[in-house]
Amino acid sequence: MSLLAQSANKPGFFISFEGIDGAGKSTHIQAFADELALRFPNKEVVLTREPGGTELGEKLRDILLHHPMHLETEALLMFAARREHLATVIEPALQSGKIVISDRFTDASFAYQGGGRGLDLAKLYELEVWVQMRLQSNGVEQRYVLQPDLTFLFDLPSATAEARRSAARDPDKFEQLNTDFFEKVRQEYLRRAQDDAARFRIIDASQSREIIWKKLKEISLSI
Ligand code: TYD
Repeated sequence: MSLLAQSANKPGFFISFEGIDGAGKSTHIQAFADELALRFPNKEVVLTREPGGTELGEKLRDILLHHPMHLETEALLMFAARREHLATVIEPALQSGKIVISDRFTDASFAYQGGGRGLDLAKLYELEVWVQMRLQSNGVEQRYVLQPDLTFLFDLPSATAEARRSAARDPDKFEQLNTDFFEKVRQEYLRRAQDDAARFRIIDASQSREIIWKKLKEISLSI
């Protein structure tokens, strides 16, 4: 059965792209959206990002990426931006049958605020449930935590990512952190992937662009 037919977010389909800064996910995300638009001409593809994706969320993004703040404030603002994003962009799109692709989602909060910066994961699980818990009522009422149907994790050693970052651009607040930080971010991403293996596709991001693209195209065929 296709992944679309098994979607927990029917009639839509929700995909997230994740990875440490410098892993190269941004190079492929637009091309992947275009590929899905070709494969599913009757379904609109919505490409969005976190933090951000809404007018308020983009303002929060600007603050989050450039303003120093307490770690818990940072986590709360990430989830506040996510709440708005779900309410005004992601869920309406899924309910009208669209394919939503988000450049980062909750796994990034676990990886960066949890793994990287050391926020107690128990607090992040609480926020995840707080923001993503939904009630389904088809006869019986059932609670579930809304998640992407599919998550690409661009994985590579943090030292390789650091070399790519320093060649590429002026760093934001997160990108200025060191290799140790990013190794912890990476390990938390891998732990989340292990915890929810059915949702994740781990992409070896140390390979060439062409090989990565081939892999993404291959996975797109299973959607
Ligand atoms: P990123 O997605 O890498 O965008 P760009 O390619 O434009 O730099 O940047 C977003 C940054 O925000 C990235 O460093 C990860 C961080 N982030 C968190 O720390 N927690 C989160 O929950 C999210 C969504 C992002």
